[in-house]
Amino acid sequence: MKGIILAAGRGTRLYPMTLPVCKPLLPVYDKPMIYYPLSLLIQAGISDIMIIIPPGEESIFSSLLGSGEKCGIQITYTVQPEARGIADALLIGAHFIGGDSVCMVLGDNILYENGLSKKLRHIAMSNKGATVFGYRVPDPRPFGVVEFEPDGRAISIEEKPLHPRSSYIVPGIYFYDNQVIEIAKNLEPSSRGELEITDVNLEYLQRDQLTVVPLDEETAVWLDAGTADSLLLAANTIQNLQTKTGQYVGCVEEMAYRQGWITLEQVHKLGAKLRKTPYGEHLTSL
Ligand code: G1P
Repeated sequence: MKGIILAAGRGTRLYPMTLPVCKPLLPVYDKPMIYYPLSLLIQAGISDIMIIIPPGEESIFSSLLGSGEKCGIQITYTVQPEARGIADALLIGAHFIGGDSVCMVLGDNILYENGLSKKLRHIAMSNKGATVFGYRVPDPRPFGVVEFEPDGRAISIEEKPLHPRSSYIVPGIYFYDNQVIEIAKNLEPSSRGELEITDVNLEYLQRDQLTVVPLDEETAVWLDAGTADSLLLAANTIQNLQTKTGQYVGCVEEMAYRQGWITLEQVHKLGAKLRKTPYGEHLTSL
């Protein structure tokens, strides 16, 4: 399975912070935002990853993540010339996906749950059709909203509904089989002029091939960090979570080590470079 991170959003809702640097490179507590979606792909066991970036940003992304070698993964960068919607990333990435399946993650989505690695690995290995998650929020209106049976059978899915039929939103992590390329090629722009990811999911729903996995009500935390308030909330939540659980969320080097892609010695070397920080101490203490 291939991995795609959509990191091309300019982050206009975060201006002026995102005038000089694009959104996925902003910090969320102690690490750059993009570490969180990247760590989800690594946890899913995906090591061949394309990051879709805005024009002119390759060198800054590359100075942070390089070719992925330090985590034993392969990262390539592709520019999205203009923001045409999330599903456009599937068209941009079509050649990269080739005949494979794909997991796409949005560059501003943060997801944590007890046992998430096992769940992601299982989905990546067994996905047929499309698999997405359902996460309960108090106000689902700004998101993709899914209504589903306890067995995961989805009944409806709507993008930013005024009158949501459930309180479950679809977080920005999507697993698709190879049909997704043909589905994306046949999409029409929505009324807001974008190729909607919800239309991709709807097509799978119509084909009776959409599975919705509810996230654990007790331990799951999902955040998107697209506004100043949600960015602050995300930072505070990660700080609390790491203090409470003693685990690091979005720690790409640790996840790569747990996959067996880099050695403990390599992790310690990477930690030594960051030794003035608790993040670096965490790596050297593994
Ligand atoms: C997008 C998707 C939406 C999804 C959300 C998750 O919304 O369109 O279905 O629930 O990401 O972050 P947008 O960020 O474009 O408002």
